[in-house]
Amino acid sequence: MSSTGTPVAPLPDPAWSWIEHWPAEVQAGSFRQRGLALGTAQVHALGRANGVQPARFDALPDGDRTLRVVEAALDALFAEFPGGAFVRLGSRSAKDTPLGLASGGQACTGAQALRLLSSGSRRVAHDLAWALQQQLTPWIWLREWQDIPWADEWRCFVRGGRLVGVGQYHAAQVLPSAHAGRARAALPELWRRAAQLSRALARPDFVFDVWLRDAGQAPLLIELNPWGPSTEAGLFEGDAGSEASLRWRPAAGEVAVEPFSAPS
Ligand SMILES: Nc1ncnc2c1ncn2[C@@H]1O[C@H](COP(=O)(O)OP(=O)(O)O)[C@@H](O)[C@H]1O
Ligand SMILES: [Mg+2]
Repeated sequence: MSSTGTPVAPLPDPAWSWIEHWPAEVQAGSFRQRGLALGTAQVHALGRANGVQPARFDALPDGDRTLRVVEAALDALFAEFPGGAFVRLGSRSAKDTPLGLASGGQACTGAQALRLLSSGSRRVAHDLAWALQQQLTPWIWLREWQDIPWADEWRCFVRGGRLVGVGQYHAAQVLPSAHAGRARAALPELWRRAAQLSRALARPDFVFDVWLRDAGQAPLLIELNPWGPSTEAGLFEGDAGSEASLRWRPAAGEVAVEPFSAPS
C-alpha cells in the first residue's frame, strides 16, 4: 500500500532486487552508500557511451555534455567516500568487462565511475535498455569501499521465507578451513536475517549475499538476487534443496554438505 492507501503494483522481476527499491530497513543492513537517479537522456547517453547494443539507445547531439552533468554529480557524492567506492547500477555492476575485473569495481572520481559503467558491459547495456522499456528509473550507486576477504563472502538461499542454503560465494576455490566454522557460527544470525528480509521484501523466495565480518558485527548484506536460473547457484547447482545445508569446498573437486535446521 502507498501512504494514501492505494495498492502499489509489485515491481517486475528482477527490479525489486535493485538497490533503489530496497526498503529502508534492508538498506540499513548493507554498505554506507549514496545513489544518483538517472534521467532518460542520461540513460541514453550512458548506454551509447557503453558501446554495447548501441541501437537500443538514442544518439543525443549533446550526449557528452549530458554525461558531464552526471560526472559532476558523482564527484560531489565521492566527497563522502575518501577511500573510494564500489560503483554499480542498482541492478548490477560492470564486473563483466576487463576494466571492471581489473579495478574490482572501485573508483574515486565521477570520471572513473563513468568509465567503469561505459566500459563495454553487456550487463549495463541490458539493464539500462530494460529499464527504458519498463519505464523504470535506473540509479548509479556508490558504496563505501571495503576490502572483503573472498572466503568471507557467502550466498544465502531463501525459499518460502526460510533459509534453505548457505554456500561459499567463490564456489570454485578451496576454502581455508577456519572460514567454514565461521559460516557455521553465523547460521542462527543468517536464519534470522533471511526471515527479516523476507518480511521486509514481502517475498518468500530470493537469494542474498553477505559478508561475514568479525565476531560481534552483523553480517553485511552485499546484494539481493532473484531465486531462479538467472542467479548462479554455486555449490547448490542442480540441487532440488530438499534439506537445508551449509556447503563449502574443503579440497579441490570436493563439496562438503552439512545439514542445518531452525535454531532452537
Ligand atoms: N562496497 C564494496 N567494496 C568492495 N568490494 C565490493 C563492494 N561491494 C561489492 N563488492 C565486491 O564486488 C562483487 C560484486 O558486487 P555486487 O554488489 O554483488 O554486484 P553484482 O550484481 O555485479 O554481482 C561482490 O561479490 C563483492 O566481492
Ligand atoms: Mg553480486
